[in-house]
Amino acid sequence: MAEGAGVIAAIGAVAANGMLGLENWLPWDIPEELAYFERTVAGAALVVGRATYESMAEVPWDTFVLSHDPAFVPRPGCYRVGSVEAGLRGALATGKPVFVIGGASVYAAAWPYCRYFHLTRIERDFAGDVRFPDEIPLADWRLVSERRERYVERKSGEPVDCRFQVFEQARPRPLPYS
Ligand SMILES: NC(=O)c1ccc[n+]([C@@H]2O[C@H](COP(=O)([O-])OP(=O)(O)OC[C@H]3O[C@@H](n4cnc5c(N)ncnc54)[C@H](OP(=O)(O)O)[C@@H]3O)[C@@H](O)[C@H]2O)c1
Repeated sequence: MAEGAGVIAAIGAVAANGMLGLENWLPWDIPEELAYFERTVAGAALVVGRATYESMAEVPWDTFVLSHDPAFVPRPGCYRVGSVEAGLRGALATGKPVFVIGGASVYAAAWPYCRYFHLTRIERDFAGDVRFPDEIPLADWRLVSERRERYVERKSGEPVDCRFQVFEQARPRPLPYS
């Protein structure tokens, strides 16, 4: 079993004004923040919404893609699932750590099952068309770690502070059997 097996976590990044996405990609261009995401989820099984999945150039094996469309066939090594619970069950069955990687609709449905939420706060407003779901009660979760870095945001060429936070939920909801 891999380290972290059986643990469900989510990971995402949000701007100061709550924006998460723009035109099916990120509202910002911060390579170091993307590298943090890639490092954190390396070796994990992923649960992802179809829109986010389609925006990704590379998708690792054992990625569970949410779609209501039974005709949707994802890339080799990836599986279509029709509910967040089915995706989480499939991802757990791989024996790998599990990361929910968004987008907004998937965070909103999956957060009750997550032990951890890795949230990067990009400390500036950005234009966007998808918001981080307001209903996730992270204020009630325990802040386990926090690190602040300053990077250059490449679209504007301006420095931006990124706060890498990890929250822990005391009692995640158990997954229903089926
Ligand atoms: N900042 C970040 O950390 C971050 C992370 C991830 C994504 N994003 C951004 O967020 C945006 C995409 O987010 P989004 O919320 O619009 O889309 P999304 O969650 O990636 O995908 C939405 C699609 O997933 C499927 N889906 C979602 N919930 C489902 C459920 N409960 N059961 C079955 N299928 C379900 C549906 O696909 P069908 O239409 O096929 O039924 C739905 O249309 C993009 O801009 C992306 O770049 C940002």
